[in-house]
Amino acid sequence: MNFIRNSTAKLSSRFLDPRNTLFLGSRHSSNPSCYEHEFFCKGKAFLLNSNKNSQFHAYPSRFLGFQRPIKNAQKSNCVPSSVFAQHRAISMPYGLFVDDTVASNVRYLSTSVETNRNDSTFERIHIQNSISVKPKNLAGEETPLDEDRNKVKNTVKGLEEGKGGVSIDSDIEKEGWNLLRDAVVKYCGYPIGTVAANDPCDKMPLNYDQVFIRDFVPSALAFLLKGEGEIVKNFLLHTLQLQSWEKTVDCYSPGQGLMPASFKVRSVPIDDNKFEEVLDPDFGEAAIGRVAPVDSGLWWIILLRAYGKITGDYSLQERVDVQTGMKLILNLCLADGFDMFPSLLVTDGSCMIDRRMGIHGHPLEIQALFYAALRSSREILTSEGSNNLVRAINNRLNALSFHIREYYWVDMKKINEIYRYKTEEYSMDATNKFNIYPEQIPSWLMDWIPEKGGYLIGNLQPAHMDFRFFTLGNLWSIVSSLGTPRQNEAILNLIEYKWNDIVGHMPLKICYPAVENEEWRIITGCDPKNTPWSYHNGGSWPTLLWQFTLACVKMGRLELAQKAIALAEKRLSRDHWPEYYDTRSGKFIGKQSRLYQTWTIAGFLTSKMMVKNPEMASLLFWEEDLDLLEICVCALSKSGRVRCSRGAAKSQILV
Ligand code: GLC
Repeated sequence: MNFIRNSTAKLSSRFLDPRNTLFLGSRHSSNPSCYEHEFFCKGKAFLLNSNKNSQFHAYPSRFLGFQRPIKNAQKSNCVPSSVFAQHRAISMPYGLFVDDTVASNVRYLSTSVETNRNDSTFERIHIQNSISVKPKNLAGEETPLDEDRNKVKNTVKGLEEGKGGVSIDSDIEKEGWNLLRDAVVKYCGYPIGTVAANDPCDKMPLNYDQVFIRDFVPSALAFLLKGEGEIVKNFLLHTLQLQSWEKTVDCYSPGQGLMPASFKVRSVPIDDNKFEEVLDPDFGEAAIGRVAPVDSGLWWIILLRAYGKITGDYSLQERVDVQTGMKLILNLCLADGFDMFPSLLVTDGSCMIDRRMGIHGHPLEIQALFYAALRSSREILTSEGSNNLVRAINNRLNALSFHIREYYWVDMKKINEIYRYKTEEYSMDATNKFNIYPEQIPSWLMDWIPEKGGYLIGNLQPAHMDFRFFTLGNLWSIVSSLGTPRQNEAILNLIEYKWNDIVGHMPLKICYPAVENEEWRIITGCDPKNTPWSYHNGGSWPTLLWQFTLACVKMGRLELAQKAIALAEKRLSRDHWPEYYDTRSGKFIGKQSRLYQTWTIAGFLTSKMMVKNPEMASLLFWEEDLDLLEICVCALSKSGRVRCSRGAAKSQILV
């Protein structure tokens, strides 16, 4: 049996030891549901207690959250089903085999490498202003410094010289920090996330009073860059707990590794007029349109890596429960299906654009996050027993990057090629592999595409290219190096040339252009929130600023980021930090936009911090992986397309 089973068994017996139980059970908390939290936050081992009201009060909302009646005594005791579950073996791909009872218990019990980290870790990092701890790869070697680190250092030096090395928060930043701290959600007295929006005048918050996984990422980065890691650690561990939730949409249960879109802390009455706090997740079963939050798990992995990189506390990602949770997400993403492409096949609304916008299939945003999550996992996975999984990740990484670089890329030359495509080619070496009819090239694109610059299209399916420019996917292709260095540069060039269209009065458009008229009817299903140039349909989302800034830092284009930040700074506070802006140039606050939207605030603060400290920001992106390229080029060479060597990799793929 693999290392997971061995180590979990070890852990279980350690914690199930009655001596430990007695000793540990003597601890008391005013709120039983806080027991588990203390376990996480303080790194103290105690959880399993002979008192039935202790550990098991942690998750009564497993029933409340789904408005299901409490069916039996087991449930009325609020015992997590994982604890009572019959032993059922979960088979995982790549030779892993985990007993789910053991695995679930490990979630509650693991302290494998839990440390009692104190804030000196942060001080150390911030005082030195350098990467003090480097991650190890699977061979246990330190990962080499990014090739371009010097470029970043030079930029830092330049900036520091320019402003005398002193960074003072502006009044707007101070306001932002106050608002961000007000948005913090506590569970049993500990910070675990931030609400999506915190407008005191909003009488109909819908689910904006919840902690969204994707929305929390910029908040997390703001806190991490500020040296406050506790909230991020708590968030990662509590959402991990929610992953193993029993979840159903009507009679169907989605995959085990699914992460919720959002969660809420609820106060639930128990006996004697007492209340306890419970976490209530939404996996899409209550969300408008019942959309599947495919991006949540990907963001979770990306954030887990960022936490390690910025705090230097790698013990979190090494924990057995964290490793198991990550493997469950990977398991879902890498599972075999009917797919012909290495890209992830998803339904409409499975990411930031979480309602019908015609992005079902293989949307770029999901592919770019998938790529970043795979690259993160490769760094995070502990070596023991993970070889097959790492091999699967490597295979997928190089197939995915080839697929996106080759088939999603458009610039003037490529559009001209498509314009002259022959169709109905039946053969292995067809040029027009996806049978794209040239008439599909929209007329706006013929005029719009600049002579220099290019971008990755929104989606690719048989006989279908979605030529819309989607900002998040393009930015994450730069950040994760899904695109080639030249493509990444060309994307930023395109944004620069098309500044009025993509930035306008407020950075940045979620996509360009909007779908209008009959197309709007068909594609959105007549969605009144997604009318042309509003919300997801060509609205401007200030939260995209931090990802733009990160991409600019990576590509050495800080001046572009600063220009965008200056625009945002002029309006965000004055406009009460809206969720999105409307109109072709992003001139007006969005029709149904929430105010005091947390990821708008956090995105702005994070951008500011990244510009002030690009070296720290550089921990959050990836450089080109030439080994991956080589594998890809060698695979192609077998089909007679190119020579096989590292040199060939550079010259053939880096076009
Ligand atoms: C909207 C956005 C989604 C976000 C949520 C909470 O539904 O489309 O991306 O997570 O609001 O802010």
